[in-house]
Amino acid sequence: MGSAITGWGSALPDKVLTNADFEAHLDTTDQWIVERTGIRERHIGGSTRGLAIEAGHAALARAGLAGADIELVVVATTTPDQTLPAASATVHEALGCRGGAFDLNAACAGFTYSLVLADSMITAGVRRALVIGSDTLSRSTDFEDRATAILFGDGAGAVVLEAGARDDLVLAYDLGADGTAAPLLYAEIGGFIEMDGREIFRRAVRAEVDSIGKVFAAAGCTADDIALFVPHQANVRIIEAVNERIGLPMERTVVVIDRIGNTSAGSIPYGLADAANAGRLDEGDLVLLSGFGAGMTWASVVIRWGRRGVA
Ligand code: ACO
Repeated sequence: MGSAITGWGSALPDKVLTNADFEAHLDTTDQWIVERTGIRERHIGGSTRGLAIEAGHAALARAGLAGADIELVVVATTTPDQTLPAASATVHEALGCRGGAFDLNAACAGFTYSLVLADSMITAGVRRALVIGSDTLSRSTDFEDRATAILFGDGAGAVVLEAGARDDLVLAYDLGADGTAAPLLYAEIGGFIEMDGREIFRRAVRAEVDSIGKVFAAAGCTADDIALFVPHQANVRIIEAVNERIGLPMERTVVVIDRIGNTSAGSIPYGLADAANAGRLDEGDLVLLSGFGAGMTWASVVIRWGRRGVA
C-alpha cells in the first residue's frame, strides 16, 4: 500500500529581520547579502514546538482531518526547545494525535529523511502520519557574526500522509551522510553555529547533484519529467548551481529563500506548501525534493503529487 500527501501547512514567526536591520549593526550591505545569498528577509522568534504545532494544525485542516486521525508524528528538527522531551511528544499532545511520536535530526535534510521514513511506516501499516520540519536556528546564531547571522531564519512546514494510494508516493529516494564534513558546520550544545561557508557550498552542490542523479536513475526519469523542484533553501546560488548541472530550469523550481532565509528542516516543507497554495502542483506531477545539511547529510526524493486512491 502506498501513501499520498493530502494536507500541507507552514508557519513563520511574526518578527521580520530585513537586510537593512543587519546593515545597522554589522559590516555588511543589502547588496552583498542579496547577491551572495538571495536572502532579503527572514522571520525570527517563537519556539520549534510552537511553529511545528501551527504548521501541523494547518496541514490537518487542509487534509480535513483531526489530530485523533493521526497515528504517527515525526518532527524533523535540529533545534528542539528542550533536550527532553522530544518536540514531537508535545506536538502530538497539542494536536491530539494518537500512536507514536519522535524527533529526527538530520539537519536541513531532516524533513526529506522523515518523509521517506513515514512513507515506509505507511507501507508497514500506519494509516495516517503527520510529518513536520521545524527549526529555530536563530537561537543558535551569533548575531554579531556577519558570515552566519544573515543566513538563518525560523520556520516550519508540515504534510499529512495517508495510506490507500494506488501507487507509491515515493518513486525513488537517496539518503546520504558524510561525517568527515562534521567540522565544517557544527554547533556545540548551547553554542553558536560555526561554518566554513565556502567549503559547505562546494560540497552541497556536489552532494545534491550526485544524489539527484541517483534518484533520477532509480525512478527512471530525467529533469524533463520533473514538474517542480523543491530544493533546500540555503543559498540561491547553490540552487542555481545544482539546477544548471542537472538541467532543470529555475522556472520549475521553488525559491522562497528571499522571504525566509535558511530555515533548516522547515525549508523544504515550507516551499512545498507555498507551491501547493499557489496552485503550482497538479495531480500526478512528479516533484523532486532535495536537501543537504550539517553532518553532512543529504536526501533526495522523487514523489508523485496527488490524492489518487485516498478515500
Ligand atoms: N557581508 C559582507 N561581507 C561578508 C559577509 C557579509 N554578511 N559575510 C562574509 N563576507 C565577506 C568575507 O569575510 C569575505 O571577505 P574576504 O574576501 O575579505 O575574506 C568575502 O565576503 C567572501 O566570503 P566567502 O565566504 O568567500 O563568500 P561566499 O560567496 O562563499 O558566501 C556564504 C558566503 C553566503 C556563507 C556562502 O559560502 C554559503 O552560502 N555557503 C553555504 C552555507 C550553507 O549552506 N550553510 C547551511 C547548511 S544547512 C544546515 O545544516 C544549517
